[in-house]
Amino acid sequence: MYCQKCRRSVDPLVNEYTACEGYYVKVSLCPRCRSPLHLDLRRFKLPQRPTRSTRGLYVAFEGIDGVGKTLQTRLVSGELRRRGFSVEVVKEPYHDLIRDFLFRNLLDPITEAMVFAVDRLILQRKVVLPSLEEGKIVISDRSVVSSLVFQTVRGAPLGLVEMMNRGVLTPDVVIILDTDVETALSRIDSREKTRFEYVDLQRKVREAYLEIARERSYYVVDASPPPEYVFNEILSIIERHLEKWGNK
Ligand code: TYD
Repeated sequence: MYCQKCRRSVDPLVNEYTACEGYYVKVSLCPRCRSPLHLDLRRFKLPQRPTRSTRGLYVAFEGIDGVGKTLQTRLVSGELRRRGFSVEVVKEPYHDLIRDFLFRNLLDPITEAMVFAVDRLILQRKVVLPSLEEGKIVISDRSVVSSLVFQTVRGAPLGLVEMMNRGVLTPDVVIILDTDVETALSRIDSREKTRFEYVDLQRKVREAYLEIARERSYYVVDASPPPEYVFNEILSIIERHLEKWGNK
């Protein structure tokens, strides 16, 4: 390469740096005067998505804390099993140590998103993907959508959170349970709240859920009525997908 400053051809020094959002920068410098001679911006080779299983059905329940996901997960999985389906129930965050670590430490939102993504990858490789490959219905209490909502509300850029989750499988069906924050939080009053469970954060999270539902056509189910009504509503959504699934 030619260095204008030294007015001679030189054998450049090459440094590589990772930049944000999937890029890395390759900088060629003059070995004598250190002036940059060439800048090359390239996309990272990001991990491939795991091949999508064509057999199983991956359903996720989402929503603010206390909205009743855990109860509905139990009711719906029980009913599907009663009808003869093979069902695997999972919950995010998955790993107890990671969950405990996240609850005890206030991380910046980007680091937090990374830790949730790692936890999710472990869960998917260990349980979700093998179950889908076996043709099971996987019912997940939270999914990547929680990260797209909670961590962006806390300030992480959406593109970055999506990038961190590129190796992660997104659910076939996302059902957001929705109710007002006061009702939801009153249901968890009896136990000690985690740092995620405060009114201001949950209000913004609820708005973010409703927005992402509009953008990505996720289902929103009103979770204010008694649990058996909510259950029937959810079941009718899943039944529609099971019909399509059965015809695959
Ligand atoms: P937890 O008490 O395990 O469960 P629940 O889902 O029943 O509220 O709380 C998990 C918390 O972690 C919850 O407040 C949402 C938050 N969370 C994120 O911020 N990002 C994520 O990606 C996931 C999976 C959860």
